[in-house]
Amino acid sequence: MQATGIKGTAAKTTAAATARADGKSETVERAGSLDTAGIILEDVCYEYPGGVAALKGISLRISQNETVAIIGENGAGKTTLAKHLNGLLKPTSGRVFVDGVDTRGRTCAAMARLVGFVFQNPDDQLFQNQVFKEIAFGPRNLGYPADKVERLVKWAAGLVGIEGLLERHPFDLALAQRKLVAIASVVAMDTPYVILDEPTTGQDYPGTQKLATLVAKLHAAGKTVIAITHDMEFAAAHFARVIALAGGRVILDGTPNEVFSRPDELAMASVEPPQMARLGQRLGLEECVLDQEALLRALGLV
Ligand SMILES: Nc1ncnc2c1ncn2[C@@H]1O[C@H](COP(=O)(O)OP(=O)(O)OP(=O)(O)O)[C@@H](O)[C@H]1O
Ligand SMILES: [Mg+2]
Repeated sequence: MQATGIKGTAAKTTAAATARADGKSETVERAGSLDTAGIILEDVCYEYPGGVAALKGISLRISQNETVAIIGENGAGKTTLAKHLNGLLKPTSGRVFVDGVDTRGRTCAAMARLVGFVFQNPDDQLFQNQVFKEIAFGPRNLGYPADKVERLVKWAAGLVGIEGLLERHPFDLALAQRKLVAIASVVAMDTPYVILDEPTTGQDYPGTQKLATLVAKLHAAGKTVIAITHDMEFAAAHFARVIALAGGRVILDGTPNEVFSRPDELAMASVEPPQMARLGQRLGLEECVLDQEALLRALGLV
């Protein structure tokens, strides 16, 4: 398991000016050394204006090019945590750094160059009358020239398998397809960090497989992919690291094997391990098995 305490991390930064679509420039701090690379949360607490304490002291580090699944029951604080990673929410106390950039005092526009965030509900995100325009909006807003925008739209649409929908109106599409459009519109911004809030919700098996391929391709392209999910099979099969939240705290953080071999702690988060892991546990296997191959190996059948 990874230690979650990372207090005292150096956050030495240098300043760099970046062009905005409106022609103005905005100063964005960039990582000054490898020490600051990745996402660092230092003892982050967050209380909503109504008084709900949604995050209660979260410290963790997510390195560049990791694939991370965040799991936990409804209301555990997953979305609240994710919104801290791109500056949509700022900690009530504690600090969040992305490649050395302290999100406090940074605009969402500045953070959007670093961290792409796909909303849980695509209808909170989609607003254009054509899929192409929807996907092009982000890269256009980053000030990219038309040929680069078109290249990014086609690349992102191809990654999520919606090339055939570019002329359609987003609201004529089914929810699962709208979700893919919302994902493509964030992927097209080509940010080093991509956060997907419950990407598999409403997807059938082929849709989920498309998303698994997307995660693998983004990872292969050097990006950090963080997905919130209630789908334990998806988390176990396609992410190298799993973080379980309960009541606004991290209760488990490790590889899928490490996390899914702790059914008692997972029960605190109202999470059931993947079916294969439960089967292995019922068979009395000591090691955690997450796929058929591992099960057969553990039973000495291959
Ligand atoms: N805008 C808000 N105002 C007040 N409280 C909120 C708001 N959004 C979330 N909360 C509360 O904060 C806590 C964490 O919510 P959050 O949405 O982060 O959970 P979650 O783990 O993403 O849940 P789910 O799996 O249902 O999406 C919950 O108690 C929730 O009711
Ligand atoms: Mg949520």
